[in-house]
Amino acid sequence: MPAAAAGGQAEPEPFGVAVVGCGNISKQYLKNLVTFPDVQVLFCADIDAGRAKAQAAAYGVPASGSLEQALEHPDVQLVVNLTIPAAHAEVASAAIAAGRHVWNEKPLAPDVAAGRALLDQAAKAGVRVGCAPDTVLGAGIQSARRLIAAGAIGTPLSALTLLQGPGPESWHPDPEFLFAKGAGPLFDLGPYYLSVLATLFGPTTRVAAISRRARDTRVIGSGPRAGREFNVEVPTFISAVAEYAGGQAASLLFSWDSPLQRMGFLEITGTDATLAVPDPNRFDGDLRVRRAGEREWTVIGSAGAAAGRGSGVVDMVRSIRRGQPHRASGEMALHVLEMMTAIDRSGETAAFEPVESGFERPAALAEDWDPYVADV
Ligand SMILES: NC(=O)c1ccc[n+]([C@@H]2O[C@H](COP(=O)([O-])OP(=O)(O)OC[C@H]3O[C@@H](n4cnc5c(N)ncnc54)[C@H](O)[C@@H]3O)[C@@H](O)[C@H]2O)c1
Repeated sequence: MPAAAAGGQAEPEPFGVAVVGCGNISKQYLKNLVTFPDVQVLFCADIDAGRAKAQAAAYGVPASGSLEQALEHPDVQLVVNLTIPAAHAEVASAAIAAGRHVWNEKPLAPDVAAGRALLDQAAKAGVRVGCAPDTVLGAGIQSARRLIAAGAIGTPLSALTLLQGPGPESWHPDPEFLFAKGAGPLFDLGPYYLSVLATLFGPTTRVAAISRRARDTRVIGSGPRAGREFNVEVPTFISAVAEYAGGQAASLLFSWDSPLQRMGFLEITGTDATLAVPDPNRFDGDLRVRRAGEREWTVIGSAGAAAGRGSGVVDMVRSIRRGQPHRASGEMALHVLEMMTAIDRSGETAAFEPVESGFERPAALAEDWDPYVADV
């Protein structure tokens, strides 16, 4: 029964959620989701029952078990799918088939056809698909969006992004999936950068790339399996260019073949100024603007919620209730997936590759949007 709010208005019950995939990133999600009043985590699931049980115990989630058991839970309305990329589509499809909305970790699916099939399946079933990254909903990127809309850099012309470093096998205890088909720096970290550009510029029309792989094997650097060698299946250096339907151009670097670590670099240049956007892999951060003729950057603090991972789930739940489109949409994730696939293909064909899917640019979030206060 809906609880009566102070003004006599009925507050909706929290949306029942199951978290599927209780590995590394589930800690950040669970820590946040259990504090957001619009959702209630009812179930933790994993193919490793022990992991699911441990995460349920750690975050006060009342039940744990398998995906099948999660989908039998009558009050689970939405599945937060935090499995490895190879399992994203299969787990999401099972949830949709059971009539549940799905929030997927990125990438949406292992390939464009699987991603499109997922969205078609959801449309037929009348349920929604949302997809990470929800960092685009954080104060940093939303403030950048507001600044550009207010004309702070003039007409946006181009973007430059840099992601380079030695790779995640030094710190991730199970890094193989990050070097398997469907991952690598482009598919693992590209979604953050490309989703910011999708949020700011809209859809891409074509891309081109050069890709390389410095080593065919890598060595696990931490955890119980440290020292074990594994195969690298994907390019680990990708230098790409992209053209946007709005006329903008972007230069993009994604590399795990660099001893020098440089992450979170994303600049938008307009007719009047360059805007340095906060790290696309974070929810907060300052913005910096440098206008024509200036020798120094002007630092501008970001405004709005920076609640972290799970914010997109809250936006999705609220949007479902209000009958509005949610912002971190499956359509935008499919476009980003198609873009990454086209970049990957261009690395082999050495030709420009078209990107054909479109999406509606999501509405900006209000500055006072707050996942910690129940939406009435
Ligand atoms: N680790 C990070 O910092 C990070 C950050 C952002 C996003 N992500 C994304 O989150 C996802 C998970 O990453 P992770 O680092 O937590 O991986 P992980 O390997 O630590 O955890 C994945 C979990 O999913 C479970 N799993 C695999 N297949 C399953 C299936 N079919 N059904 C149920 N459970 C299944 C595994 O047993 C494991 O517990 C990936 O898509 C990754 O790109 C990770």
